[in-house]
Amino acid sequence: MHAFLRTTLLSAAVLGTGAAPLLAQAVTKTYQAPADTVFLQPSAHPGFAKTAVCAACHSAEYIVYQPPTAARPYWEAMVKRMKNVFNAPIQESDIPDIVDYLVKTYGNERPR
Ligand code: HEC
Repeated sequence: MHAFLRTTLLSAAVLGTGAAPLLAQAVTKTYQAPADTVFLQPSAHPGFAKTAVCAACHSAEYIVYQPPTAARPYWEAMVKRMKNVFNAPIQESDIPDIVDYLVKTYGNERPR
């Protein structure tokens, strides 16, 4: 999914308007995303189920490979960016649980 998103954004930016016929041709091609091999860590935490929405656009890989030193404000900004910039379908009221799950599972509040 990652490579596909980047390629699409890039070709749209590089080709611009002059290459509209080219672009239309490219869009008709089908693309098979590779199977996801990275999943969110299951947990009894109430934020776990709510975080499932995070894998709707991209692999959980994006989340799993964030720096383990990442603190709560980092995760909060990340979740809000996904919602506000990419229109991730996240309920405002679910954000605290999602952030809590993320920082305690992948960030600097996880048990060691
Ligand atoms: C509506 C689609 C969508 C949803 C849903 C979504 N994301 Fe993203 N996410 C993106 C896009 C687009 C990117 C940027 C991809 C790129 O740069 O290649 C991204 C990138 C990321 C990254 C990589 C770091 C970065 O800064 O780019 C992380 C971490 C991430 N998302 C976490 C989350 C989390 C946590 C959630 C759930 C709260 C979530 N995403 C839900 C679209 C989404």
